Amino acid sequence: MRICAIETSCDETAVAIIEDGKTVLSNIVSSQINVHQAFGGVIPEVASRIHVENISLVLKEALSEAKMSLDEVDAFAITHGPGLVGSLHVGLIAAKTLAWYTQKPLIPVHHITGHIYANNFVSELTYPMLALVVSGGHTELVYLKEEFDFEILGSTQDDAIGEAYDKVARVMGLSYPGGPMIDKLAKSGKPHYKLPKIKTQNPFDFSFSGLKSAVLQLVHKQTEDLRHEDLAFAFQEAAVGELMHKTRLALDTYPVKHFVLAGGVAANSRLRELVLGLSETYPDVQITIPPLWCCTDNAAMIGAVAYIAYKHGVQADLSLSANPGLDYA
Ligand code: KG4
Ligand code: ZN
Repeated sequence: MRICAIETSCDETAVAIIEDGKTVLSNIVSSQINVHQAFGGVIPEVASRIHVENISLVLKEALSEAKMSLDEVDAFAITHGPGLVGSLHVGLIAAKTLAWYTQKPLIPVHHITGHIYANNFVSELTYPMLALVVSGGHTELVYLKEEFDFEILGSTQDDAIGEAYDKVARVMGLSYPGGPMIDKLAKSGKPHYKLPKIKTQNPFDFSFSGLKSAVLQLVHKQTEDLRHEDLAFAFQEAAVGELMHKTRLALDTYPVKHFVLAGGVAANSRLRELVLGLSETYPDVQITIPPLWCCTDNAAMIGAVAYIAYKHGVQADLSLSANPGLDYA
């Protein structure tokens, strides 16, 4: 089954052709990052306009790289939430038009399930599975008792981790997106700054706003010359340490066979190192981290999960609409 998947939930215009949920025939991502960098973050109205300009070109390139015509596509998959409403609508109208024109199935996809099933490209997934989802909009521990069955054990009560990275970077004068910049700076940082401990009511929930505010205060007070590397190091150790602490708690509590990392922040070098280290304490748990090409937003991951969703009977008609706050569990 060859699925043409479309992803426009934020600032990447992406189309991929995926065979049987596993084989990437093409995966085109047109990033708008250069445009949004000038504003220090994603401007929703600008993002949707650029999606409109790019979507047909990206679709054409994806088909051409896969050496396929539109008639050879078996189904169309589309991210219909969560995300920026205007951006989502652009991909949605393209997918609905294509499904109607070709009379092929339309498969609706939740963006985060795509991030989780990106791991399908590199590993045979086994269940029960635990996913740590870390992106610009989400921070969640998701338990999948079986395939395509999502239970959110805990989530952030305030900022998502990627959002906290981006805000901390911004106050340190680094450009958007700040995550990769902090990651790089932290490599040469040393323990110097002390940041507050994070507290949450539910043991599996997360909270990053206190940590972010503590960094902002340090920057604003500036009683001494700011040591950027050391501050990046302190923030990263605290933030990533918190992710690992909650993950270990979930692994101690649930009968997990497979642990996967998911989302844009899965590209973080320190997090990847610590996640791989989990195998020392949990030798019976299979551990998968997605390769860098499918950590940040792309349409290949949407095609991967769409194949599984379709097997589970998920399909939409042309009344499908964009849902910026879509739930999946
Ligand atoms: O999943 P994603 O591409 O978009 C959303 O669905 O949100 O994630 C984007 C987020 C941004 O906040 C970006 O700063 C963060 O992922 N990010 C990183 C790294 N690479 C990307 N954060 C920390 N370290 C990185 N290396
Ligand atoms: Zn994402």
